[in-house]
Amino acid sequence: MNIFITGGLGILGNSIIKQFSKKNKLIIYDRAKNHKRFLKVKNRNMKFVPGNLTNNKLILKTIRKYKINVIFHLGAQTQVLEALKNPYQTYLINLQSTIKLLEAVRKINNKIIFIYSSSDKAYGEVTKGSYLENYPLNSIYPYDVSKSTSDLIAQSYSKTYGLKVGIIRSANIYGPHDRNLKRIVPETIINLLNKKKIIIRSSGKLKRDYIFVDDVAKAYILTFSKLLKSQKKLLVYNVGSKYNLSVLQLVKKIASLLNIKKNYFKIANTSTKEIKNQRLNYVKIQKELNWKPKVNLDLGLKKTIIWYKKNISEFKI
Ligand SMILES: NC(=O)c1ccc[n+]([C@@H]2O[C@H](COP(=O)([O-])OP(=O)(O)OC[C@H]3O[C@@H](n4cnc5c(N)ncnc54)[C@H](O)[C@@H]3O)[C@@H](O)[C@H]2O)c1
Repeated sequence: MNIFITGGLGILGNSIIKQFSKKNKLIIYDRAKNHKRFLKVKNRNMKFVPGNLTNNKLILKTIRKYKINVIFHLGAQTQVLEALKNPYQTYLINLQSTIKLLEAVRKINNKIIFIYSSSDKAYGEVTKGSYLENYPLNSIYPYDVSKSTSDLIAQSYSKTYGLKVGIIRSANIYGPHDRNLKRIVPETIINLLNKKKIIIRSSGKLKRDYIFVDDVAKAYILTFSKLLKSQKKLLVYNVGSKYNLSVLQLVKKIASLLNIKKNYFKIANTSTKEIKNQRLNYVKIQKELNWKPKVNLDLGLKKTIIWYKKNISEFKI
């Protein structure tokens, strides 16, 4: 297979690339110039194409040139705080790239499988219980809306034009290779390793499911394989875990794994425009694809801490 991965240098891209068999040709598309710094996978069947998600011409040329069979669309403006500051740019990058890729599939070869990286944030606030795949997408804030709309657009292309589309609505991902220092796991680990206090922007009470990146990558690959083999045109799955923690509980967990006991956090309570509670029901993917998260929270966080310790020179603050 010839596989096109946008945003392939991010945390999720790194893990998906690692899990693909070397028989496949992987075309990695990302804006970074020095990809070797970000991607530590050795694979002679892999090609890196530097480019922006807004560069439609280059994307089309690449899909044609490498006779792509499947697209994993992971590239996006992924930062919630940046989206609050700059909604226009977030919508532009996240929506435009999704629409343009789907148009490319429709026009170049409608047999190309399209896998979209949606999010639990696409659902918006959960009032009780947990989100099921057939719940409405009711997001409010810019990053979240960019995920809901892209998710709906991808579904629309499948239902209207018969494209094969897989949508993964994943919980909060953590693990090695996350260079987004405003995400709670990297920010906490790096601050604590650098002997600095972690300033919690929210009330500390916001609740999320946390899932180790390799488990999410596995769900992506299983969804792709299922679409490849079956007649089904559209698959939508929640990918979550049983670890539903408040921000404060998570920070305390990381501190305890680092053996830090005192005076290591402050609650600023300045960030109010965020979903309060998120929880995914992931029974559907368990039943249909026999997927389940394998890495428990302690082990996943330990692996993550080891990676940041090894690479701490990159993250001096
Ligand atoms: N990390 C999570 O908790 C999480 C949860 C649910 C869904 N997702 C979604 O999964 C996907 C992958 O997330 P991630 O955590 O790996 O993100 P990431 O930020 O680690 O990686 C995103 C990649 O996209 C690239 N990129 C961003 N803007 C670009 C542009 N304009 N042109 C070209 N490349 C660009 C970045 O260089 C980066 O390598 C995203 O679409 C994200 O919204 C992430």
